[in-house]
This record gives sequence, structure tokens and C-alpha cells, in this order.
Amino acid sequence: MLDTLLALGSAFRDNVDMSSQNLTIVRPDDWHLHLRDGDAMQAVLLDTARRFGRAIVMPNLRPPVTTVELASAYRARILAALANVADTVQAKRFDPLMTLYLTDNMTPAEIEAAAASDFVHGVKLYPAGATTNSDSGVTDLMRCDAAIARMAELGLPLLVHGEVTNADVDVFDREAVFIDSVLLPLLTRHPDLRVVLEHITTAQGVAFVREGGANVAGTLTAHHLLYNRNAIFTGGIRPHYYCLPVLKREQHREALLEAATSGHRRFFLGTDSAPHARLTKEASCGCAGCYTSHAGIELYAEAFEQAGALDQLEAFASLNGPDWYGLPRNDGTITLLKQSWTVADTMSYVNNDVLVPLRAGEQVKWLLKQN
Ligand code: NCD
Ligand code: ZN
Repeated sequence: MLDTLLALGSAFRDNVDMSSQNLTIVRPDDWHLHLRDGDAMQAVLLDTARRFGRAIVMPNLRPPVTTVELASAYRARILAALANVADTVQAKRFDPLMTLYLTDNMTPAEIEAAAASDFVHGVKLYPAGATTNSDSGVTDLMRCDAAIARMAELGLPLLVHGEVTNADVDVFDREAVFIDSVLLPLLTRHPDLRVVLEHITTAQGVAFVREGGANVAGTLTAHHLLYNRNAIFTGGIRPHYYCLPVLKREQHREALLEAATSGHRRFFLGTDSAPHARLTKEASCGCAGCYTSHAGIELYAEAFEQAGALDQLEAFASLNGPDWYGLPRNDGTITLLKQSWTVADTMSYVNNDVLVPLRAGEQVKWLLKQN
């Protein structure tokens, strides 16, 4: 193992061309992505397929993807859309990894069917009412305890949106309270359960993963590595920086960046790119979700560069995820050029509306080399 790591380390150094500051890494994966469905999916899919070999596709459609059969049909729709939009051999090879949406009614038999399939890689826990399309989410975890016990036996990961939904808990404390009141008791009941705490936003989330066993991992988004909660309120209210879990204070951002760049093998990349039409975000009650797939790896390169840790990007983006999920690492590489470009103000989307990507009209400092 050590030999492999050393070999990878040296291969990586060879790949960093410090004179031109170009960066070549093993093709990354996105371990948390919202692809939506129909025309919306068609509009955003290529942004991911150009950059990432695989993505864990979230099941929060309306109605949610609650069965292996629905996941299979959704996967077929993604592959059909991909055949329409893919413009390179690599984009055509993009592999969507499917998930099921946990509800109070999930059965152990459905878990067995999921584990037996070769395309369902996790089950998503949304506490009811926590975020976009989560009204079918779990109201009380004890109601699905038998299904979760089966997941622990079969090694099927539980992917967790880690926020309590109680109105009496401050929105900025919801992740920390969830860890103490839901996640730790869950792991006491099921110590072998494989858990990914998704889109970690707090130092407490980082500590939970660090202190957990080999069965506990966490994903980090680029926007939580790059921004703190001031971004939502700079000079006025900025809905395109509003996502859930919401951006937190600077001290939390620093803890996330430290975790991502530390080389710890149980932290990996999950964009949580979550497209919403402009008018549904710029509204009196705007939706949660930031669209980041248009710069899905480039924004991470910026964050890692800021931390002086570009040499850790490959492990975080391309190696730790497949290793934890027990999947092969991607063959092939991508190259990022140290070259600034300006993000479009809007992208075409659905319902005669547009999508406002993160950093719209502003610069991103790394550019994906087209191949
Ligand atoms: C996600 C969405 O829009 O589907 N929104 C978000 O703010 N991240 C749902 C989610 O993952 O919370
Ligand atoms: Zn999400």
C-alpha cells in the first residue's frame, strides 16, 4: 500500500508542471450531484460529464427515487440524455451512480435488491422538510431501523443530509445538533453502518468524520470551501449563494479547507451542484441550491491553491472517493490550465428561464483543458 502511495505521489509531482502551473490529475468523480430530470437534466449534464468520470446522483426528484426500479429508469434517462449531448469520448463514458431516497416506508427487501444491483451505490437520508424536495423524507429514523440494519449488514452506504429540521433550532446550528442528536445515536445502534456525512459545513462535521471509524466519510463542496456566510449578504441579499446546509462562519470554512487539503482519506469531493431556474431563486421565498458544475473541478483547484495544497487535490477529487466506495479509480486524466476565464451571466435552462451559475460574470482562475 505504501509503495502504491509513494508511486502515486511521485507520479503526481511529475504531473505538476510548476513553470506553466498546469495540473494533470486522475479523472475525478463527483460524490454528490443533483442532475434533475428531463430538459433540466439535458441542460446541465454535459458540465459534469466533461469533468467527472462518475457522479453519485441524488434521488430527490418529484416523486422521489425510492425503488431500484425507479433508479434503473432514471439511470436509463440519464444515459439517453448523455447520448444526445456528449461531445467527446470521455463525456460519453460518464457513469451515473444511482441512489435511493429513504422514506419511512423503505423495506429491508428493497435494500437487498439495491445491494444486489450493480448501479445503486447508496441510500439518501433527507430528514423530512430539510431541503429542496424533501417532503417525503424520514420523519423518525426508528421507522426505517430495519432497513438501516440491513444496509449495515450488506455494506450499502447511508448518504446523509445532516440537519435537524426543528424550528426551534437555529439554522446555523442544525448540522451540529443533528450530529449529536441523530447521527451518533444511529452509529451506536449500527456501529458498522457505512455513512457519508454529505456537504459538511461545520468544524463539528469535520470532527465527526475524523473521529469516526473506517466506515465514516464526508464530502465537501467547493462553495463551502471558498465562501463563508457573508457571501449571502454582501451589499444586499444574494440568493445564488443560498444553499442548504447554509454557508457558515469563516472559522468553519477554515476547518473544511483544512480537512479537504489534509490528505485525510475519508474526505472527498461532492459538488452538491443543485440547479434551480433563476426565478425560483430570485423570489420572496427562494429555493436552496448553488449551481457549480460549470466549474465543478476548477473551483476546487482555486480553493486548494489558496491553501497552498494543490498537491492534495488529486487524492481528494479522484482517489479517496473510489477507495472508500470500493470502486476502481478512473483511468485517464484531466488537465487544468492556470488561466482565468469569465463565467457566463446565465445559462439556458427550462421553462423559458435561465440558470445563474456560481460566480456568474466573475472570473474562475483555472480552466479545464478540452480534449
Ligand atoms: C439541493 C437541491 O436543490 O436539490 N439543494 C441544496 O441547497 N443543496 C438539496 C440538498 O441537497 O439539500
Ligand atoms: Zn445535495
